[in-house]
Amino acid sequence: EAVKIFCPATIANVSCGFDVLGLCLDSVGDEMVVRKSDTPGVRITKIDGADLPMETDKNVSGVAAVAMLEALKSNQGFEIEIYKKIKAGSGIGSSAASSAGAVFGINELLGKPFTPAELVQFAMQGEALASGTAHADNVAPALVGGCTLVRSYTPLDVVGIPVPSELYATVVHPQIEVKTADSRAVLKKNLTLSKAIQQWGNVGGFVSGMFLNDYELIARSLEDVIVEPVRSVLIPLFKDVKAAAASAGALGSGISGSGPSIFALSKGAETATKVAEAMTKVYHNSGIAIEVHVSKINP
Ligand code: HSE
Repeated sequence: EAVKIFCPATIANVSCGFDVLGLCLDSVGDEMVVRKSDTPGVRITKIDGADLPMETDKNVSGVAAVAMLEALKSNQGFEIEIYKKIKAGSGIGSSAASSAGAVFGINELLGKPFTPAELVQFAMQGEALASGTAHADNVAPALVGGCTLVRSYTPLDVVGIPVPSELYATVVHPQIEVKTADSRAVLKKNLTLSKAIQQWGNVGGFVSGMFLNDYELIARSLEDVIVEPVRSVLIPLFKDVKAAAASAGALGSGISGSGPSIFALSKGAETATKVAEAMTKVYHNSGIAIEVHVSKINP
């Protein structure tokens, strides 16, 4: 008995919502096959497209799967095959796709003992292995779909946010690798009250814009005064790419997750494609190779 799964890429943070907001992409992701096995335990039997550890306790899928089976006190064995398309260290939730895919697949094969939101707690254990922190802002949208808000970590409270029907994402990945653990280490541990006020105003604005289908409100809220100023120095041509996205009509743009990918949100596929061209153009003759995706936000 086996299931084949699409494991979507995700945009974490979405500018204002560091560690709490995430978006699920519709057309970019990995594939995975999860199979029941007569031998207890979890084994990674194949990894295609990336050089990642096969040992269960060193692989994010393995760690997430084991956390789930321990919670269920299940001795059922599983084999996992991973077909990676999302590059590690790209900033669109590569490790999250594998962690989420493993627990989603096992849940299907066990007759769905957990809801997608309940699976987040196990997939987070994979993120802890990958980045040193069990952040849920990639695994939550990968499992629940659409847009998610991690309202609280303790206790875990994941809220699904509706997605306006014409919301599209453009993601440009300059081909350098940024490890999430490194880009978390550069962050300041303290912030001023005035910055916090700006940021939570934007989080409220973004979520309201999503509920109200108010693209202008979403646009005004795509601002990050805390993390982006610190991390953007690690990303080549960041300011120019942002300016290019804005002039091509994007609602806003920012760092996707911990980078180096840069995302932009747009109203409509046509604008998202124009934004992709404008963002791509910035890297012409720069010597930096890029990869570009335009995707609907999974509704
Ligand atoms: N919220 C996390 C971070 C996402 O920005 O470090 C990592 O993809």
